[in-house]
Amino acid sequence: MVVAGVRRVLLRGRRYWVRRLVAVAAAVALAGLMAVPAVAAQARTTGGTNVAAGRAAPGGSCPWVTSTAPISQRVAQLMGHMSLSQEISMVEGHGTSNPYVFYTPPISSLCIPAFGLEDGPAGVADGLTGVTQMPAGVALAAAWDPSLAQQYGQVIGAEEFGKGASANLGPTVNIDRDPRWGRSFEALSEDPFLNSTLDAAEINGVQSQDVMAQVKHFAAYNQETFRNTPADNVIVDNRAEQEIYLPSFYAAVKQANAASVMCAYSMVNGSFSCNNSYLETSVLRDAWGFPGFVTSDYGALHSTQGALQGTDMEQPENTYYGTALTSAIRKGTIPRSALNTMVQRILTQLFGYNLFSQPRTGSTSATVTTPANQAVGTTVAEEGTTLLKNSGPVLPFPASNAGTIAVIGPAASTSPAYAGGGSAYVIPSSTVTPLAGIQAAAGSGTNVVYSQGLPTDTSLPSIPPGNLSPAYSATPSGGSYTGTLTAPETGTYVLALTNPCGCYTPAYLSLNGQQILDDPSTPPVHTYSVAVSLTAGQRYTLSVSGQSSQLLWGTPSALAPSINAAVTAAKSASTAVVVVSDDTESEAADRPSLNLPSAQDQLIEAVAAANPNTVVVINAGAPIEMPWLPQVAAVLDDWYPGQSSGTSLASVLFGQTNPGGHLPVTFPASLGQVPASTTAQFPGNGSQVQYSEGIDVGYRWYDANNLTPLFPFGSGSPTPSSRSATCRSPRAP
Ligand code: BGC
Repeated sequence: MVVAGVRRVLLRGRRYWVRRLVAVAAAVALAGLMAVPAVAAQARTTGGTNVAAGRAAPGGSCPWVTSTAPISQRVAQLMGHMSLSQEISMVEGHGTSNPYVFYTPPISSLCIPAFGLEDGPAGVADGLTGVTQMPAGVALAAAWDPSLAQQYGQVIGAEEFGKGASANLGPTVNIDRDPRWGRSFEALSEDPFLNSTLDAAEINGVQSQDVMAQVKHFAAYNQETFRNTPADNVIVDNRAEQEIYLPSFYAAVKQANAASVMCAYSMVNGSFSCNNSYLETSVLRDAWGFPGFVTSDYGALHSTQGALQGTDMEQPENTYYGTALTSAIRKGTIPRSALNTMVQRILTQLFGYNLFSQPRTGSTSATVTTPANQAVGTTVAEEGTTLLKNSGPVLPFPASNAGTIAVIGPAASTSPAYAGGGSAYVIPSSTVTPLAGIQAAAGSGTNVVYSQGLPTDTSLPSIPPGNLSPAYSATPSGGSYTGTLTAPETGTYVLALTNPCGCYTPAYLSLNGQQILDDPSTPPVHTYSVAVSLTAGQRYTLSVSGQSSQLLWGTPSALAPSINAAVTAAKSASTAVVVVSDDTESEAADRPSLNLPSAQDQLIEAVAAANPNTVVVINAGAPIEMPWLPQVAAVLDDWYPGQSSGTSLASVLFGQTNPGGHLPVTFPASLGQVPASTTAQFPGNGSQVQYSEGIDVGYRWYDANNLTPLFPFGSGSPTPSSRSATCRSPRAP
């Protein structure tokens, strides 16, 4: 277990813009996926920031705008007019107050348009509204369907275009090396072939909308712990690199012609990814012939030498490519030709994506979500929903006369989890909770009742001073607190910690020195919880480090009334549907364990003991442990399904659609079984992260070591009624 105080991640006072949603008439309703993006976006734009604003009329002064000469000639012609400072402006970050998370401003005198790059992998992110929150990448991968991946990419591309962004910061194609990785939900799979096939299809979809894809994060970025520090120095052998960690990038570049690549926070074999000549030059440029440009992840460039190593653009600040690069060029320590190459690569894509000839008309305030886009999200969620167990079979429910269905759990209604956290988080334009979806789909003769089953994390009370000595004192600006907790009773407690900073910097909670929470305060969740077993009268050391504002708890007797109410509801129902979630999966933190937060395991156990027809629905982006598996009748992994969550879930539960998913990652029986089970392998010993499992990642590890996981890669079956109607085997790409 990692000592909390030693852990560091990138500190960045990240700012999320609050943008006003512009009211837009229902005329958007019919805008389809294949609509010409510029037209659709124009019709919906009523205000906000338009990136073309400030761009000078071409007139006769910018012949490269209207020229039909080959792009290389237009680039050369334009560059013939560029000063050193104008070239620098194309490669440096311009701060964090721009309309897009990454940005270069227009250069009006040369008719160079503004260039906005916006997250992310599951829809337009970074705090923009009026967009579609799509299912997570892992849900898409569970559908095993390249044509669906292409449609998913088209939705993202069209919505980015409508928002005026010219590059989508996605997809995330890093291999799911370990289920604790906080960004597993954002990535696709543990398998390089599935990963590559889907990412190429998705990129084709994005780029078909005149929006560049910036595939990320190159390369071997597989954990959040220690990120962007020398402690995340991945030691990986050439074979594993070539066979496991690089193929998805190769496919993005060679099959899908991704316009751009984002270099990662990880160090790989001793050099930061954005200062790694081997990766960025020998592999990407020399071996693969990549003609596009490389952008640094947020603050991931570590020296001006990146200009020689292969990073073309620093974002979002200009620590190394602003005055530092200017003076290096003036001094001759970096040749001007290196800068010219960087600018030439960027301009080539700007011309290739018609930014000069068709100025972007989108706006950050445009409403770009459409019913058609949302329908793609619903289909992906349905096709990705993975049926892991169905004894009886208890699923699907009959379309009518299904008796009483007791829907249980905060995640079903009061605290739903639609998406993972961090830069990939997309604000939904509207939502359907699991409960609302089930209520809407239940036919005549079916009665739906709801019981929350547990308090929401944010409604828990503070640990009273009588039980904690000294009393908890908040650490809103960082620091630490240590106290002794005396347990008043024996049983399962919920402990919760709030990190209010919103700054992608974890706060840690430890019990007797064991780290039990790692809360990075990314959108959308700031309070993380965990269940612990305590014994009456025993004293426990509770310590917090980092920024924190609340230390909360639920004692066994405080939790009992809501669990008992759920048990009562389940007893008098024909079926119980317990919706559970892991809302702690996020960028900037890894999960300390594979357990569900709060006392959700205990809730499932209590409900399953009361009703043999208990169905568990999981909203999570990565594998969880399932200690209750033998006691429940059915398990549906619904991943993070995006904003139409309840609609897709109900459609699967009532047999209107097939739960089409198959696991794109192995579910281990326990954490001890995973390929990177030693600290040296994950998260590393503080100076290196040994990828000593080599190519034995994911199912290869279980095969090679004759291990039986909880659910193997590829698990998932249709429900019986859909089997007869729409039987199909996993659609291997
Ligand atoms: C993430 C990237 C993201 C960037 C911009 C970084 O923290 O790692 O995936 O695109 O921020 O938001």
